[in-house]
Amino acid sequence: MDFVRSRELSARLKSVVPGGSHTYAKGDDQYPEFGPRVIARGSGSHVWDVDGNQFIEYGMGNRAVTLGHVYPSVVEAVQKSLALGTNFTRPAAIELECAETFLGIIDGAEMVKFTKDGSTADTAALKLARAYTGRDMVAIAAEHPFFSYDDWFICTTTMDGGIPEFERGATLRFSYNDLDSLRALFTKHPGQIAAVFLEPARIDEPLPGYLEGVQALCREHGAVSVFDEMITGFRWHIGGAQKLYGVTPDLSTFGKAVANGFSVSVLCGRRDIMRLGSRERPNDNVFLLSTTHGAETPALAAAIATMQVYKSEPVIEHLHRQGERLRQAVVQVVARHGLSEHVPIMGRACNLLHGARGPDKKPSQAFRTLFLQELIRRGVLAPSFVMSYSHTDEDVDRTIDAVDGALSVYARALNDGVDGYLVGAPSRTVFDRK
Ligand SMILES: Cc1ncc(COP(=O)(O)O)c(C=O)c1O
Repeated sequence: MDFVRSRELSARLKSVVPGGSHTYAKGDDQYPEFGPRVIARGSGSHVWDVDGNQFIEYGMGNRAVTLGHVYPSVVEAVQKSLALGTNFTRPAAIELECAETFLGIIDGAEMVKFTKDGSTADTAALKLARAYTGRDMVAIAAEHPFFSYDDWFICTTTMDGGIPEFERGATLRFSYNDLDSLRALFTKHPGQIAAVFLEPARIDEPLPGYLEGVQALCREHGAVSVFDEMITGFRWHIGGAQKLYGVTPDLSTFGKAVANGFSVSVLCGRRDIMRLGSRERPNDNVFLLSTTHGAETPALAAAIATMQVYKSEPVIEHLHRQGERLRQAVVQVVARHGLSEHVPIMGRACNLLHGARGPDKKPSQAFRTLFLQELIRRGVLAPSFVMSYSHTDEDVDRTIDAVDGALSVYARALNDGVDGYLVGAPSRTVFDRK
């Protein structure tokens, strides 16, 4: 395996695109030196890099590609829509079709608006909540790593350059699964918190009554509850985590899996809040998600086709079944290597993550990088173990073998020191939370 062309193209990319990619999470500093840097194409659960190396891929497209690369019915729907035109001076009929299809699946939502990025959808939810409540502050779950590239969220991270001082201070943090910490924020800032943002679940499941408690606190204190379903949506349950846990937020946001990698994200929720962006009444003055490309028709065609697959095929069951198979086998392999305290396998089966701890049993970027490097050497590109509908039993079996091989190196590196095994520098995190 060599990565000559990868290195060349990545150097050129970095000289013309800051960060060398359009998502920091895909950047060179997130991955081992020994590995693919630029991808040429994908098919199903596999990708080929620009040097022709083939990999089983996990967490494809930052978890957007849940059906698999080049999924036939999605590609066909996009091709058909291309022949009809991509953008018009008035709304396209497909905007209605997509909205009705979505609202038929996410049945707690009464109105929906599409946009391109999850960040934009979350920021729009905050804007609506601020307009609805007449308040400025927002409370976010401290353990949830990302809501938006916009200032109201990024100011809570170490990548906070270019954010004006007045933006800071309006974003408060509470602990997930700890109602008292949210209650304390409402007590400290009475009548000031417009919205409470959280992912309904992440690595931890919500404790019994927790999401209901968040909803009740929001009601009691007049704040808008927002569930970010960017990851849980179209993964935990076809109706979203809100359906699975039986708690309907005031607003919610979706993205990623909804269009199998095409650029569609979603803001949806209560009609009385969403209507502030409708311009139907004299006081409807929220400039809500009005963009040139918001209703680009091929993306909406991709979303409709993706949702049809979810409705007619056991996608959710597959994601959970394959994830569970992988989890059980990997946990056994990890135990066989005596690494249970070093390589934890975490999260829901449809959203499986691997941890990497060093000799001191603390999270280690060097050991994470080594694990990724040794998986790559064995044909698996796995920043996570997040499944798609295209991952086959054979993919999972090959991954288990790759994990087995990678862990023998990991175990040796724990004894001998990681430096002798790692090619190049450890990867970095994109940012830390302040
Ligand atoms: C939970 C969550 N919310 C919001 C976002 C932002 O979505 P996007 O990258 O489409 O702007 C992400 C992206 O990773 C996410 O994981």
